[in-house]
Amino acid sequence: MRTSFALFSALAAIAAAAPAPQMLDFGAVLDAPAPSATGPPVGVSNDTAVYNPASAAAAATSAVVAVETASVTGVAASAAAASSAPAKLRLAKRKDSSNEDSTSTSISTSISTSTAKSSKSSSSLIPSATSTTVSINTVSGTATTSSTSACPTVPEAGTYCGFINPEDPCAIQPDGYGPKVTPDTTGAFLAYPDFHTTAKKTKTPKGYVNTFTDLNDAVNANSYLGLHTLSTYDTLACSQLCDNTTLCTAFNIYIERDPSLNPTVGQCDNPSSITNYKCTLWGSGVDAAAAVNAGQTRASFVVVITGSNGYAKTNNTIPARCAGYEAPKKCAGAINAPSYNLGAKFFPGPYDPSVCAAYATAQTAYNKAHKSSSSSGYVPCNMFNAYMVKKNSIAQGTYCTLYDTPLDSSWGSYKGGWAGQDYFSIETSWTYSLSEQKDGTDN
Ligand SMILES: *[C@@H]1O[C@H](CO)[C@@H](O)[C@H](O)[C@H]1NC(C)=O
Ligand SMILES: *[C@@H]1O[C@H](CO)[C@@H](O)[C@H](O)[C@H]1NC(C)=O
Ligand SMILES: *[C@@H]1O[C@H](CO)[C@@H](O)[C@H](O)[C@H]1NC(C)=O
Repeated sequence: MRTSFALFSALAAIAAAAPAPQMLDFGAVLDAPAPSATGPPVGVSNDTAVYNPASAAAAATSAVVAVETASVTGVAASAAAASSAPAKLRLAKRKDSSNEDSTSTSISTSISTSTAKSSKSSSSLIPSATSTTVSINTVSGTATTSSTSACPTVPEAGTYCGFINPEDPCAIQPDGYGPKVTPDTTGAFLAYPDFHTTAKKTKTPKGYVNTFTDLNDAVNANSYLGLHTLSTYDTLACSQLCDNTTLCTAFNIYIERDPSLNPTVGQCDNPSSITNYKCTLWGSGVDAAAAVNAGQTRASFVVVITGSNGYAKTNNTIPARCAGYEAPKKCAGAINAPSYNLGAKFFPGPYDPSVCAAYATAQTAYNKAHKSSSSSGYVPCNMFNAYMVKKNSIAQGTYCTLYDTPLDSSWGSYKGGWAGQDYFSIETSWTYSLSEQKDGTDN
């Protein structure tokens, strides 16, 4: 424990001390706390409205606490504002006089030790100090501990009666549309041939790419957007739920061995199983590396997962426009232009350029409000670059870098680098330029 913490600190220190690759500060990614949910809560059948864009934007706004400036300012900014020539031409000129693209972008790799394994990837696998002890046991199939009313009829196994709270001790659990596996063991479930045939034969929905097939683990990552329990293993239905969910660019569909009753210590420790088809939604790509959740133990009941497939449409998705900005432009990697850089921040969660827009607006406003009385103006953000950072192929969050002038996609060539044994890569990099460029002389 102590050793790995020391190593982690050492790495963070090196990441902070190294001549920062401004297009990606590994330390900022490593240090950021995980969002409150990195996967579906245990025992829940549907989970929606997980991500709140308004609170993410508010967090980005309040993250601005200091004036930021770029090493090339004023001239660049006013030239950009004064000239009606396209940004590309102005930049071509700048590029000649600058060698920024050749700067080495790799951070010190002298540390060969692994960083402290982040607890976020494993925390959701730990049974959440499950089921509080309850002294009453009124659940007989017709009454619950949270309702004084009895069910009008005896509920069928695997259905709600309308009064049962599935979180009550031994409450009947909903859904369970899949086949009953016999014998009722985890081994038989994982070996059940139909599950594997189904996962392997299913169709890839139009616009999506199949990223992994028939694993025994579900995805866990910072880019979690929600869960739906389906009545069949239906990749099309899951893709439609993704298409209907803001920021969703990927999904994970899998078959889960779940308890028929809410497992409760001393009351129904190990109920018989039901089979659920689950569909989780993600604001990033989903790679096999992110499939790390093999299930968990609830009282004595063991939840296991199989037939887990991943699908992503990250390369076929144009992110939403941001108010006040031109349509986003795609880059192969992160923009690497330190001279025009006005700061960068990392926001754990799904890929959401609107968080960067809030940050950019706040930074410009802060610079303007705090300009020195002797200077003729302030440095505005005229463009931002928003990209998804992945650590060892697992989505971490949106990285935002601000620039005082628009830069074309030829500047966006930084693909990632190593920090210790962790490889940081870039997915979906887009730039947004202010529709009305600012020169920093307005009052
Ligand atoms: C869960 O979501 C699916 C898809 O939206 C829906 O069909 C189903 O009725 C929901 N189940 C419950 C128990 O709310
Ligand atoms: C997606 O949204 C459309 C339009 O709101 C709606 O008609 C459709 O039923 C939704 N599909 C799913 C799977 O929720
Ligand atoms: C997206 O494109 C990149 C670069 O060509 C490729 O490496 C990656 O596998 C693609 N991802 C998906 C989900 O299609």
